[in-house]
Amino acid sequence: MNILLLGGGGREHALAWKLAQSPMLSTLYAAPGNPGIAQHAELVDLDPTDHRTVLDFCIRHSIGLVVIGPEAPLVDGLADNLRTMGVPVFGPNKKAAQLEGSKGFTKDLCKRANIPTAAYERVTSKDGAVAALNDFALPVVIKADGLAAGKGVIIAETREEAETALDTMFSGSFGAAGEEVVIEEFMTGEEASFFALTDGTAILPFGSAQDHKRVGDGDTGPNTGGMGAYSPARVLTAALEADVIERIIKPTVDTMRAEGMPYSGVLYAGLMLTDEGPKLIEYNARFGDPECQVLMMRFDGDLAALLLSVAEGRLADEGPVTLADRTALTVVMAANGYPGTPEKGGAINGIAAADAMGAKVFHAGTSDTGGAIVANGGRVLNVTATGASVGEAQAAAYTAVDTIDFPTGFCRRDIGWREVARERG
Ligand code: AMP
Ligand code: GLY
Repeated sequence: MNILLLGGGGREHALAWKLAQSPMLSTLYAAPGNPGIAQHAELVDLDPTDHRTVLDFCIRHSIGLVVIGPEAPLVDGLADNLRTMGVPVFGPNKKAAQLEGSKGFTKDLCKRANIPTAAYERVTSKDGAVAALNDFALPVVIKADGLAAGKGVIIAETREEAETALDTMFSGSFGAAGEEVVIEEFMTGEEASFFALTDGTAILPFGSAQDHKRVGDGDTGPNTGGMGAYSPARVLTAALEADVIERIIKPTVDTMRAEGMPYSGVLYAGLMLTDEGPKLIEYNARFGDPECQVLMMRFDGDLAALLLSVAEGRLADEGPVTLADRTALTVVMAANGYPGTPEKGGAINGIAAADAMGAKVFHAGTSDTGGAIVANGGRVLNVTATGASVGEAQAAAYTAVDTIDFPTGFCRRDIGWREVARERG
């Protein structure tokens, strides 16, 4: 089978690496890909917003499965157009992708399906929003409704901050994403992410992870796409996981199907583990980045076969997903300036040496300038290792990080700190 993988970050390098291990695979194509993905795939120049051209490519190259990595093509309806033409695709249709594409849509769904989540109000004007603020205690959470590349969430400690946030959103700073806003109750607890594959009916758990969103050690500084992650997130115990499936994932999948927008793909639930039990913060319609990297390190199976089974609605026939007991941990090496404007072109050496030590270095934002790998993005490398404990995985990942010479880059030195502290007791 030929597979087309869309995307070009660390998440897609991890997917390409696993897909390439499938005995089912003939040729893996990737667009746009990156130098890491190029080790496993033939890179092709395809614009994912040009659905006609993607479809033509699939037909000409006998593509048996399209794997869509990022959210934008999903929210844009690429999966709908491929499915309509009979091309199996891993990733939800446009209506189902609203679970990521519209925070208000998801909150309303939670209300209809009685899914535990923060209290909220949807507002479409500054005046309406200011009036709605009276219904919430401080701090209060202000969110742009649409996709805002992870930047559309503001936690306001004071009324003034809340009003400033509302001004920013309604003044168009987030474009169309901010035309509608969700105001939410602030929840407290530890965050964890849970992943489940679903074909619209059957549900197969795909493990848990914990991300580190802030740029600096000790969870300080601005938010990023994620500076590191580990899996599993042991705070999400088996009992809590069962609760999440029963009270959050299953009602979501069932309601989406019942309402004529079945969700097919991976459902990534961002959770707050509150005193009242797990509550949904948000859904993503794709694997997380860098959470995917640690999940793929633990995944033991034929990824192509499994994703095809999701795409073809045969997930009920699959056995449980096998994930290694070991902990996987990834450290993001970013370019100086990130999450602002990252410095481009910085030289990187030592990737092969880090890989040779048993770590796995995924390329996230690199380019190949005639054999030399240089930085070409904010998040540049994901240095990933496994261990019997988080402490062990962390030590192995940082030993590999220290083997890499990337003078214009930086990383957090404390990925996994919560769990390492718990392990030390
Ligand atoms: P989101 O993009 O919805 O995942 O939000 C980004 C981050 O904001 C989350 O990972 C949480 O840390 C925080 N956050 C979002 N919503 C809430 C909430 N209702 N209560 C507390 N923190 C939240
Ligand atoms: N690491 C967070 C995300 O992929 O949304």
